[in-house]
Amino acid sequence: MAASVSELVIHNARVMTCDPSRLGLGIIDHGALVLSGAAIRWVGPDADRPRGDRELDARGRLVTPGLIDCHTHAIFAGERANEFAMRAAGRSYLEIARAGGGIAASLGPTRAASDAELVAGLGERLDVALAAGTTTVEVKTGYDLTVEGELRLLRCIAAVAAARRQRIVPTLLAHLVPPERAGDRDRFVTELCERLIPLVAAGRLATSVDVYCDEGAFTAGEARVIFAAARAAGLAIRGHAGQFHDLGAAELIGELCGLSADHLEQVSDAGIAALARAGTVAVMLPGACVQLRLPVPPIERLRRGEVAMAIASDLNPGSSYCETLAIQMWLAATHFGMTVEEAWLGVTRHAARALGLGGAGTITRGSRGDVILWDCDDPADVPYRYGAATRLIQAVFVAGERLATTLAPLAS
Ligand code: NIG
Ligand code: FE
Repeated sequence: MAASVSELVIHNARVMTCDPSRLGLGIIDHGALVLSGAAIRWVGPDADRPRGDRELDARGRLVTPGLIDCHTHAIFAGERANEFAMRAAGRSYLEIARAGGGIAASLGPTRAASDAELVAGLGERLDVALAAGTTTVEVKTGYDLTVEGELRLLRCIAAVAAARRQRIVPTLLAHLVPPERAGDRDRFVTELCERLIPLVAAGRLATSVDVYCDEGAFTAGEARVIFAAARAAGLAIRGHAGQFHDLGAAELIGELCGLSADHLEQVSDAGIAALARAGTVAVMLPGACVQLRLPVPPIERLRRGEVAMAIASDLNPGSSYCETLAIQMWLAATHFGMTVEEAWLGVTRHAARALGLGGAGTITRGSRGDVILWDCDDPADVPYRYGAATRLIQAVFVAGERLATTLAPLAS
């Protein structure tokens, strides 16, 4: 006889389904849902709900999909608060990078860190993210930039993922040509393509390859070569595009049907049209944009072009040391002019698409049981009260299991 699957009915809830077949955020007032094992078995009006062995009364409060952070650089060692202070005193990110700071400044500490230190650091950041409602996190490499070192970062990410219920999506990031390879950048790119990417694919260590295509990082020509190798290895494509300068990366990522083009402070109409044609998601990173005092991405042009927009933390030691998506939603609303509805879709359904996890980021029959119960009933409350995101969370369910977070212990 098959063991019976444990079921939990959450009822008397304001369920934000984010179901694309419903309007807007797909809110069901007086709704209910059934978590069965690791999945959502049923969602609909409270009056029609099936009975279950366990019930949780949401008391009219908001229940949403677990949040999805689709762009982070969460594995690194060493911190760069000194650069934050320099920027606060008026120096620019690019100026600091040219003087030896920036991404290159994180290479030494990351290379010197032990596996245990990298695993612990990543785990701590993921705990902070979980306490703020993030149930799926993409994690990019990119702070080692040697073949062996990047493989090590991916193995550390896999070790962390195996020990957690939160879903981790690993990405190989061609972040920069490291300073010691500046004289031999063509060979470095060839090494990425001919050694690193095939090894990553063979070991199933990442699902996509990201290239930082900008001045000071990779050219559009180099990005094309790296993306071709990714494709040949069966990996998906994403890119850092137009954070500082528009090198045509959005056009390239669209042409290659990439999953996402991220940053996009600088993007042409042709770039936006290419993303729209390919169904590529535009990932907005307001924390990095505002912190670096960059111009805001062209939200209205992206909207008119019908490009789906996601919102992510860009969690990294330089431009955005932030695990909390509610803060990014607030910045998206206050500084980018995105609506509350766009902010929510940006950290749920659209973020899932940016990771190639179509169907995730919704409360629909058969989707993973990643659900948040909030201590509020209006979707605007979460970005509005961005400073209290962890306090607003009453319960986090990941793959159907209620997890304790720092501020929402199971006893509450
Ligand atoms: O997305 N733009 C490239 N990478 C990061 C910054 C990384 C760093 O400064 O360490 C970003 O903003
Ligand atoms: Fe980034």
